[in-house]
Amino acid sequence: MGAKAGKIINRKPKKTSPSLFANDSPLIVSNEPPVILNLPTRTRTVVPPIKCQGIKSKLVKFISQSIRWSGKGRWIEPFLGSGVVLFNVGPEKAIAADTNKHIIRIYSEIKAGSLDESIARDYLEESGKTLLREGEDFYYQVRDRFNSTGSPLDFLFLSRACFNGLMRFNKKGGFNVPFCRKPHRFRPALITKICNQIKRIREIVNAKDWTFTACDWRETLRSARPGDFVYCDPPYIGRHTDYFNSWGDKDATLLAQHVQELPCGFAVSMWMKNKYRTNEHMTEWGACEVKEFSHFYHIGSTESLRNEIMEALILRSE
Ligand SMILES: C[S@@+](CC[C@H](N)C(=O)[O-])C[C@H]1O[C@@H](n2cnc3c(N)ncnc32)[C@H](O)[C@@H]1O
Repeated sequence: MGAKAGKIINRKPKKTSPSLFANDSPLIVSNEPPVILNLPTRTRTVVPPIKCQGIKSKLVKFISQSIRWSGKGRWIEPFLGSGVVLFNVGPEKAIAADTNKHIIRIYSEIKAGSLDESIARDYLEESGKTLLREGEDFYYQVRDRFNSTGSPLDFLFLSRACFNGLMRFNKKGGFNVPFCRKPHRFRPALITKICNQIKRIREIVNAKDWTFTACDWRETLRSARPGDFVYCDPPYIGRHTDYFNSWGDKDATLLAQHVQELPCGFAVSMWMKNKYRTNEHMTEWGACEVKEFSHFYHIGSTESLRNEIMEALILRSE
C-alpha cells in the first residue's frame, strides 16, 4: 500500500474530481494559508535509513509549514517512528522517544559514532554477498541473530531485505517479517543510497542537541515545559498492531487529555476521515485548530483502488 503525494485541503478541489470531504467537522477547521515561522522548509526531504508503518514522508512539508513555534525550547516527539519529521523539522534541541528500542538504538548509535556510513557499507557489502550466495536461509539467520542480540546493523539489513520493507514484531517482541525473496537486494546502488541516508542523519544529529530515549509517551510528556513544542504521531487504532504498536480507544482518549494539559504548544497527527467513516476521537480536541491534508493510498495497481484519506493536524500554538 503506497501513499501518493497529497494536497492541503484549503486549495480549491478540481471540478472534475470533487473532494470526498465537506468541512462538517465540529472542530475549528483552519482555511488560512500555511504560516511559516521559525521552522526551516527544506527543498528536499531528508529520508531516514529505516521505514516504519505510518511514516509521514509525504506530510513533512505540510507539518513543518503548519507549526507556529519560536524554536527556542525543545522539540519533543514521543512517537518518533522513522524520525522523518524530526530530521526534516531540524530543531536545535529535541527529545526523541519511542517505545521501540530498536529505533532508538540505531539513532543513538549514529549519534554516539558507533554506527556510521562506513561501518554500514562494510557490513551491507559483506551481508549482501552472503545473501546472494545463501538466499533466504541467510535472511532467517540474520533475523534470529537480531532477535537475540538486537544489533542495529542487523536491524538495518532486515528492514531493507524483508517483505515490503515492513517493520513488524510478534507478541514477544521478535521481528517476524518474512524475506522479500530478492537475493540480489543489496546491489551497489542500494548500499550507496542507504549509506548516504546514514551520513545525512549523522551530520544532522551531530550538529544538534538531541536526546534519543526508549520510553512510553506518558513519561516523555512529563518533561514538557513552557517554550517546548510537542509533536505526536501515535499509531492508528487497530491498524498495524504489533508488540510496539498496540493502540486503542482508551489510549487515544488519554493522549487527548494529557496533550491538552501541556504547558506548551503542540501538534498531533491523526487520520480524520475516509470515504466510509470519520475518526470519532476528533471530537476530543476541544477548540484546537485543525489543518487538513488529503492524500491517496493505493491498495493494488488499478485506479479504482485509489482511496482518499483525510489526515488532520491538530494544533495549539505557544
Ligand atoms: C505512526 S508511528 C510514528 C511515525 C513517525 N511519525 C514517522 O513519520 O515515521 C507510531 C510510533 O509510535 C510508537 N509507539 C507505539 N506505542 C507507543 C507508546 N505507548 N509510547 C511511545 N511510543 C509508542 C511506535 O513504536 C511507532 O514507532
